[in-house]
Amino acid sequence: MSDLKDVSKDFVEVVKYEEREFAPPADFVARANMADPAVYHRAAADPEAFWAEQAEHLHWFQKWDQVLDWSDAPHAKWFVNGKLNVAYNCLDRHIEAGKGNKVAFYFEGEPGDQRVITYQELKDQVCQLANALTELNVVKGDRVVIYMPMIPELVVSLLACARIGAPHTVVFGGFSADAVRDRINDSTAEIVITADGGFRRGAPSGLKVNVDEAVKGAPTIEKVLVYKRTGQDVDWVEGRDFWWNDVVDRQSTEHEAEPMDSEDLLYLLYTSGTTGKPKGIVHTTGGYLVGTTYTHRNVFDIKDDDVYWCAADIGWVTGHSYICYAPLANGATSVMYEGTPTYPAPDRWWDIIERYKVSILYCAPTAIRAHMKEGHQHADKHDLSSLRLLGSVGEPINPEAWMWYHRHIGQEHCPIVDTWWQTETGGIMISPVPGLTTTKPGSATFPLPGIEADVVDEQGNSVPLGHAGFLVIKKPWPSMLRTLYNDDQRYIDTYWGKFGNMYFAGDGAARDEDGYYWLLGRVDDVMNVSGHRLSTAEIESALVSHDLVAEAAVVGQPDELTGEAIFAFVTLKNRAHPGDERDFGQELRNHVAKKISPIAKPKRIMFTPDLPKTRSGKIMRRLLRDIASGHALGDTTSLANQDVVNQIQDATTSAAQDE
Ligand code: WTA
Repeated sequence: MSDLKDVSKDFVEVVKYEEREFAPPADFVARANMADPAVYHRAAADPEAFWAEQAEHLHWFQKWDQVLDWSDAPHAKWFVNGKLNVAYNCLDRHIEAGKGNKVAFYFEGEPGDQRVITYQELKDQVCQLANALTELNVVKGDRVVIYMPMIPELVVSLLACARIGAPHTVVFGGFSADAVRDRINDSTAEIVITADGGFRRGAPSGLKVNVDEAVKGAPTIEKVLVYKRTGQDVDWVEGRDFWWNDVVDRQSTEHEAEPMDSEDLLYLLYTSGTTGKPKGIVHTTGGYLVGTTYTHRNVFDIKDDDVYWCAADIGWVTGHSYICYAPLANGATSVMYEGTPTYPAPDRWWDIIERYKVSILYCAPTAIRAHMKEGHQHADKHDLSSLRLLGSVGEPINPEAWMWYHRHIGQEHCPIVDTWWQTETGGIMISPVPGLTTTKPGSATFPLPGIEADVVDEQGNSVPLGHAGFLVIKKPWPSMLRTLYNDDQRYIDTYWGKFGNMYFAGDGAARDEDGYYWLLGRVDDVMNVSGHRLSTAEIESALVSHDLVAEAAVVGQPDELTGEAIFAFVTLKNRAHPGDERDFGQELRNHVAKKISPIAKPKRIMFTPDLPKTRSGKIMRRLLRDIASGHALGDTTSLANQDVVNQIQDATTSAAQDE
């Protein structure tokens, strides 16, 4: 864990020059969903009453009899004994209110294919899949693994699971067969929903092929349902594999949504932690939907006539909460795009915004920086005047990227909401409220009404304004994770072990003299590369699983484009004679891609005869981080093997690079 001194140093760097402020534009304020600043006080004075008020926006088959049960802390129950169905809230109730013909999704595939899907059409498809899953023997409580490209059938799959009460676990399409297998085995799922493949940078890339590979090591799987997206050749196992078109299309479009308990499992989503084993984050039904719809309504100021585009992937939590569940539960119209931002040309996004008249854009700083690198001339060619609000998520947004976004995309009139949250929090926690908050570039500003956060020192004491510390959440919130699947002890230790009665997020943060929150990145061994969460330990164990690797240490290195880049220090076994280091570095990268995902490939690999260790044998990552970042080295007296540091420093210049 990096210490507070490191974190504070970063804070001083970030805020030193930042004096710009942007008040919400008057015309925005005049129409804003949340426009009375008294809401902060009201929510803090009686949080349960406040959350109950938010829950009233949903449809309940049976009302709750207690808002929060925290008697078994840190295990929360929200809206106790309430009964609802998430898919019913996302679809049926809008149709019953006469909005069946409203567009739910404007879908655009990477090759340029387009589909317009109304709420009625989406509901029909969800009901058909719900009936098909039932025919395939999936019942309430069964886990369903979903591994699909970013196509409407992915949303249909999530909602069909929610409709019958079968928790889903989505595996990001960029993950490897090994990652799919591990998630199937941890969740003991009996069915996978997948596609033959998806389109990525102009070419079909296979998904079914990875499922076939994964299932070899996943004995619980009995059925694989396959949607035909690319038409590429696939292997087929009779009796196990089913084409979506054969099984789903002939089903009835009638299906009655299963009433679920507020605390029934809605989904598992695996995310990287500080060990090699991903954590299965548990989200339940009622609180999750209350938290995500509340934040979506107020942070994105969503209106009936908005065209909202969250350019994330449903494989990550941002897509679960803010492409699928919250926008649909709020009855919004969304754009969904399958492919890469700059394919076939750097203006693909700006073209999409112009054609669909997108009014709200939500994306990651890494995408903004990638567009910034391509240049604003690509955006200038398009009419972006439909935009009225911009959002950012996934990593700290540097003030330069914020200003570029503000000037060239928001044309200086769109508020920017920099939203801090995590897979664990389910929904946005710290963010401007666009009709209320004066923003500062690079700051996520304040905890939302209803959320009580703080910045504390090692002892858990609040630090004064102007100082950095650990970010904590002091009160339970409805969309919080309930536990880690099959590992409650790890849940307690990871999030509640450090400060006892406060949720420890794993992030460093500081507040400036005005009380604004500045997020400073992870303080644990989790990296954030292009907004993707990756664990150093997971990459290390992938590296040491290679036959010739004795030991590996992975650290994050600051990177202009991706936020952090992966830097691996690798020690080879004595018997290893890998020949050319550059070729072997490439082989190791491919090995990591196969074990985890191409996004986990180290950008730099450095071969070293040894790694710096303390006398008790612990690798000194802080030192390696300093070396990787080019910082002056801190205290090295506790090192058992002093000279290795000099060797490593000398060799840094010749590190193999993946450019
Ligand atoms: C980081 C993504 C700074 C943070 C929703 C957190 C951010 C981790 C921001 C969670 C932001 C997310 N500013 N840092 N606006 N948003 N993070 O679980 O380190 O993929 O702990 O959830 O991303 O990543 P996750």
